[in-house]
Amino acid sequence: MRKFPVLIGSCMIVALVLTVVGQQLPQPALDRLDAIMKEVGPTNQALQQGLTAKDAAKIAADAQKMQDLMGQSETVFMKQKMQDAADMAKAAGAAAAETVKAAKAGNVDAAVAAAAGIGKCKACHAVHREQLPDKSFTTKR
Ligand code: HEC
Repeated sequence: MRKFPVLIGSCMIVALVLTVVGQQLPQPALDRLDAIMKEVGPTNQALQQGLTAKDAAKIAADAQKMQDLMGQSETVFMKQKMQDAADMAKAAGAAAAETVKAAKAGNVDAAVAAAAGIGKCKACHAVHREQLPDKSFTTKR
């Protein structure tokens, strides 16, 4: 009989933990997007430099990184059920994959053409990125 209060007590703790975890789930996922995008910025700059210099090896490396980052963004948006954003990230990732392929084949002109499809950053930011008064960014659904 003395085990009952312990059992009930543990159930309550489990329920409390689940409630807290359940409520907090979406936020870390969006914080993760913040971290991904902080990488996307410099990666895009590096990629643009490679494209300007027509450096196939550099283009391939940076476009590969961009492909990975866009894939991660797509996953975050899918989890947030932000389908239009997920589609944009997917399209950017596909363009990055094309860029990698062309650059690896040594076809810099085709890589430059394909890379144009990655740079649709503003289309997504216009709809889903919001700047806060402290100048930091957050996601707008
Ligand atoms: C599919 C949507 C989408 C695409 C495509 C996208 N972004 Fe973002 N980006 C976001 C959202 C949403 C945020 C705000 C996230 C946050 O900071 O919490 C953001 C934030 C950023 C930030 C600010 C990060 C910070 O917090 O300091 C940079 C820099 C950035 N993006 C660069 C880029 C560049 C460069 C591209 C294109 C190569 C790009 N993004 C493409 C959705 C997108």
